[in-house]
Order: sequence, then structure tokens, then C-alpha cells
Amino acid sequence: MKDKIIVTGGCGYIGSHTVIELLESDFEVVILDDLSNSSEATISRIKKITGISPIFIEIDLKDARATHKVFSDHKDAKGVIHFAAYKAVGESVQEPIKYYKNNLFSLLNTLEAQVYNGIENFIFSSSATVYGMPNTLPITENNKTQRPFSTYGNTKKIAEEILEDYTRSNKVFSVISLRYFNPIGAHSSGEIGELPNGIPNNLMPYITQTAAGIREKLMVYGNDYPTKDGTPIRDYIHVVDLAKAHVLAVKRLLNKEQEMALEIFNLGTGVGYSVMDVIKTFETVTGVKLNYEVTSRRDGDVPELYASINLAKEKLGWSAKKALDDMINSSWIWEQNFQNETNVISKSLSGSDSLK
Ligand code: UD1
Repeated sequence: MKDKIIVTGGCGYIGSHTVIELLESDFEVVILDDLSNSSEATISRIKKITGISPIFIEIDLKDARATHKVFSDHKDAKGVIHFAAYKAVGESVQEPIKYYKNNLFSLLNTLEAQVYNGIENFIFSSSATVYGMPNTLPITENNKTQRPFSTYGNTKKIAEEILEDYTRSNKVFSVISLRYFNPIGAHSSGEIGELPNGIPNNLMPYITQTAAGIREKLMVYGNDYPTKDGTPIRDYIHVVDLAKAHVLAVKRLLNKEQEMALEIFNLGTGVGYSVMDVIKTFETVTGVKLNYEVTSRRDGDVPELYASINLAKEKLGWSAKKALDDMINSSWIWEQNFQNETNVISKSLSGSDSLK
């Protein structure tokens, strides 16, 4: 019998890529998602890629009663991967209560429901944002966490603190928290990828949307940082590499290989690229010239952030395989596929084809 894993937020960007890797590693998957920032169409795309249709339940995890019901229906699950959360940094600063309520109530209801139903393993989708402004590079998991600039970031930090308390009080409960650096890229099939709601906050979707003509110009937020070309440096990681790390984390929990009740791993490549590196590589890889302009710094941006990846390598046996070219190329293929599809749909809705 296959081991069943519950994936909250499984229709989202990182969630959907992880579901594919789980299915391809012979796990059974139950997706819980409220579709607030994703689409049910992802389920059929996952089926197209893997040949398997995961169980899908539309649910708002803020609803404690509904969450308990779903977990009691799937109490045979061996573990939970919790992606479900709001993630727009700018919006989180404007609407902090919305973010605290959604990201933390969902977490608490999930934890309560799973433990009540005897499901002992939990993987948390965390972020390098919990390191705030780091003093030393590369960042190891022992670097002190700091209060992140954004409410979104603070929900990740608070969540990790909740998990720390929870594992201390509940001896059978095991947690792995994965701190992502900058996930970009898309599945090689071109069927799934990042789909930001409205104007993208993050660099990669902004670049691909500018190249596709949806945005007029990319704004480069500052070129006066103390870096090689003045633009900030980040550790970009392919979403498929990231997804594979989740499968290894699940196996570590299921095989009881954990050394502590709460383990934390950085997920990055260990290599930093500047904003200008990304722009230039995009132009080289795709042959598309980007319209961009340097403007002032964005509040809360740190000059340089890249991971020490030794711990994930040693304990999970994981390291990133895909290079920046592949991350950028797959993002671009996904963007073009998505725009083509959207055009076909809007054309057929407006009936323009039949007017010919
Ligand atoms: C951001 C979030 C971080 C979150 C992560 C998730 C902030 C301050 N941080 O990280 O909390 O965990 O996304 O993916 O928002 N850039 C531009 N022009 C743009 C967009 C970005 O120049 O239109 C630059 C930024 O200044 C930054 C780099 O590109 O130097 C990467 O930005 P982004 O993709 O937003 O990621 P982070 O800011 O690192």
C-alpha cells in the first residue's frame, strides 16, 4: 500500500511541483486547498504529467471544524506538508491581520487536527526571510533569526516558533522546517509554473511578464548596494529541485531518521546571483531583450543572501541540480504557454474566431 501524504496548498506554485514529485515517488496524495490563489485546473495538469489524479478537497483551513473532519477522513495519512499560506509581501504589510489570521489559524487548525487523528509527521514551508538582515554569509541554519521586515515573513518566523513549542510539548510529533531561498522556474512539461495574483512582487515573474509584453518595464530596485554590480544578490533555486527536497524530507520522517523533533534545513543552491546577472542571463538564454530601468531601493531588501547548503546535503542527501539557465528557460516557456492558452480562451470567449 502506498503511503498517504496530505499536502495543504497543493494547487499552488511550490505545492503543485511537490505533489508531482510525491506521485512520481509512489506516494498517494491528498491535496487540501481553498483555491484563493490557485486554480483547480492544476489537478488535471498534474494528472496529465503523472498519469495520476491526486485526491482534491477544497477547504478553508481557517475553518477548524471542516479541518478536523477532513483529517479524520484521512487519518491513515503518514504525514502532512503544509504549504497553504498567503505570500504577497507588499499586501501583507498593508493587511497584517489578514496574513496573521490566514497563515497562523490555518497552521494551528492543521496541527491540532492532525495530532488529534494520530498523524505524527509535519513538513513546514518556511523561508529564508526568517534570517532578516544576515551578518555572515553563507547563511547556515545556526544563523540567528530576526524579525522579518514584512508581516508575511513574520508569519513564517512565528510559525517556526509555534512548531518549536509544539514539538517540545508533544514528544511523538516530528517536524522538518524547510527554509527556501528564492524559488523560480517551472516544470519541464511547461504545464505548471508560478501564477502570481495581479502584479508580481518577485523578480522572475516580473521579468517574464515584461518580456511577454504584459508589463511595460521591469524596475530594478537599486544599483547602489555593496555588491559586484550594485544590485542585490540572491540564491535562486529551481522549484523542481526544491520539490524533490520535500520528498526526501518526507522519507526522513517516515524512516524515523530524525535526530531532533524539529529539524531545519536551508534549501538553496549556495550560489548567489545579482539582479543584473538574472537579467543578462534571461536575455542570453531567451534571446529576448528586456525593457528595464534602475530605480530606488525597495524597503526591506537586503544586499546579499545565499545559503550554506551543507546540512541538507549531509542529512537529506539533497543538493540542487539545476542551473540558472534552466531556471530561467523553464520560467519563460511556462509564461509563453500560459499566455498562449489565455489568448485562446479569451478569443473563444469573445467569439472572435467565429467572426472570421
Ligand atoms: C521576497 C520576499 C521574501 C519572500 C520571497 C519569496 C521581500 C522584501 N522579500 O524575497 O520575504 O520569502 O520573496 O519568494 O519582498 N527586484 C527588482 N525588481 C522587481 C522585483 C524584484 O529589482 O520588480 C529585485 C529585488 O530588489 C531583489 C531581487 O530582485 O533584490 C529578488 O527579489 P524577489 O524576487 O522579490 O525576492 P526577495 O526580495 O529576495
